[in-house]
Amino acid sequence: MDRTTDLNPHEPHIARMYDYYLGGKDHYQADAEAAEKVLQALPEVRLAAQENRGFIHRATRHLAGEIGVRQFLDIGTGIPTEPNLHQVAQEQAPDARIVYVDNDPMVLAHARALMVGTPEGRTDYIHADATEPQEILDAARETLDFTEPIALSLIGLLHFVPGAYEVTATLVNALPSGSYVAMSHLTADFDPEGIAATVKVYEERGLYCHPRNRDEIARFFDGMELLEPGVVPIHRWRAPIDPPKSMDAKVPGYAAVGRKP
Ligand SMILES: C[S@@+](CC[C@H](N)C(=O)[O-])C[C@H]1O[C@@H](n2cnc3c(N)ncnc32)[C@H](O)[C@@H]1O
Repeated sequence: MDRTTDLNPHEPHIARMYDYYLGGKDHYQADAEAAEKVLQALPEVRLAAQENRGFIHRATRHLAGEIGVRQFLDIGTGIPTEPNLHQVAQEQAPDARIVYVDNDPMVLAHARALMVGTPEGRTDYIHADATEPQEILDAARETLDFTEPIALSLIGLLHFVPGAYEVTATLVNALPSGSYVAMSHLTADFDPEGIAATVKVYEERGLYCHPRNRDEIARFFDGMELLEPGVVPIHRWRAPIDPPKSMDAKVPGYAAVGRKP
């Protein structure tokens, strides 16, 4: 069987471990065991995953609603989890077009759930690897108009991708002026020991995982204009209520949205 479509149940996968953190049902024993090891290192990882979903919803609502973006390219989509990005975007703008991309066979197996959108809009799914950004861009052109603004979502993805700066630069270069990038990224800034132990769990299972500090994450936005409030802990990005300071150590990631001038 093709390695890229083999579900490979005996080895943990990033998407299925994340599904476990979110309380989903689309994972195997190997994923649950690895995820439990992460839970020992980072007892609040479930909260962090939920806050990450909250950021997707707030950023997408802002981009589709207040800003008026009509096209979304979401790379590292994950196993469908309601509400999915297209549901949030199309609630604001029924004619929004969304292209989802992931390299995980379980996400591919569930991709149909990502394609049930509004009749006015369109959703598509591309099974591809982020380390091949040109392939993604070529396929996305079938659905998205690259002369109109596009919101590129790289949420909870880049710490899992070798060569993440080059990948991001290739993608951003292809976007027209007035496009946006929404990103969240793992950091060891708040809980260095917990994150070191977490990285070990992934790496020992052959899964690349590379956290970055705030400055390194801000570097992804070089040449772009950061929307308020800039690069902030995930749960603080345009939070409806100011979260307590104690939450920062529990949600070990930063989020930001930038505009390509
Ligand atoms: C932590 S999940 C995040 C899912 C979703 N974006 C969210 O934030 O809720 C990371 C996702 O990125 C995908 N992923 C990891 N490395 C990838 C790669 N090289 N190419 C494409 N997708 C990748 C995984 O399969 C997984 O679905």
